[in-house]
Amino acid sequence: MIIARKIEQLKTLLAKARLSGHKVGLVPTMGYLHEGHLSLVETIVPYVDLVVMSIFVNPTQFSPSEDYESYPRDLEKDIKRAESAGVEIIFSPSVREMYPKGYQSFIHVDKVSEGLCGASRPHHFRGVTTVVGKLFNIVQPDFAVFGEKDYQQLVVIKQMVKDLNFPVRILGSPIIREDDGLAKSSRNVYLSPEQRRNAPLLYCTLQSVKDAFEGGERTGKTLVEMTRQALDIPEVQIDYIELVHAESLQPLQGKIHSQPVLLALAVYMGSTRLIDNIRLQ
Ligand code: PAF
Repeated sequence: MIIARKIEQLKTLLAKARLSGHKVGLVPTMGYLHEGHLSLVETIVPYVDLVVMSIFVNPTQFSPSEDYESYPRDLEKDIKRAESAGVEIIFSPSVREMYPKGYQSFIHVDKVSEGLCGASRPHHFRGVTTVVGKLFNIVQPDFAVFGEKDYQQLVVIKQMVKDLNFPVRILGSPIIREDDGLAKSSRNVYLSPEQRRNAPLLYCTLQSVKDAFEGGERTGKTLVEMTRQALDIPEVQIDYIELVHAESLQPLQGKIHSQPVLLALAVYMGSTRLIDNIRLQ
C-alpha cells in the first residue's frame, strides 16, 4: 500500500503503472471509511488492475455553516480498511496541495445540480464537481465509482463527464445499509442514541411508499404526501421530499407512466442531515 500526499508523486506512480498496461480505477472519498466505501472498491475491482482511493475532506463543497471542521477523520484506520479491501494507492493530499494560494477555477454543472440537495446546499455541487474534475485530471482513471446514496452527485458527475469529455467511465454502486435499513454514512456517528433509534424510519418509509407504488398508486403528489405524513414525527425535520425523473432529476407531480422514478429525501435529525432514496421502477 502506497500513501501519496503530493500530486507529482502520484502522477509518477501512475505513469509507471500505465506503462505496464494497468487499467486504473479511482474511488473518491472523504475518508472515515465504512462498508459503503468498501463496497465501492468491490464494485470497481473487476474493471481495473489498480485501485486508487482518494481520501480528502474537500472544503469547497461545505458552506461556512456546515460541518467541514468537525467532519469525522481517521486516516490511520482508513489506511488499514482500504488496504484490506484491495486498494493499492491512497491519495491523501493537503488542502494547500489541492487548492494552492491564488486558486480560482471551479466547475459548475447546470440543471441537474439545482434541485434536491442543490437547492438547500447551493455551493455544494460546484465544490464536488471541481474536486472530482481535479482528481480525474490528476489520476486519469479509466473507471471511477460513486455511491447511489448520493444519487444526485452521481447524476451530476455523469453529466460533467459527458459535457466536458472526461475520458473516464463512471460506475454507480448500490446503497449499503445497516441491518435496520439506515443507509451507511460517515455522518451517522453524529446521531444521539435516540436519533439513531428513530433513523430507520427513513428507509422504512421509502419502502412503504414503494409498496404503494407497486400496489398501483401512480400520482406523484400523493406518493410525496404519503412520505411526508410517515415522517411527521418531532424528531425529524424535513428538508425535502421529492419524486423526480431518475435521469433528468426533474420533479414529477402528476401521473407516472413508464418513466424511471426516484423518490429522494433529506431530513435533519437534530443538526445531522441525512439523505436517502429509492428507485420506484
Ligand atoms: O461523496 C463524497 O464523499 C464526496 O462528495 C466526493 C465525491 C469524494 C468529493 O469530495
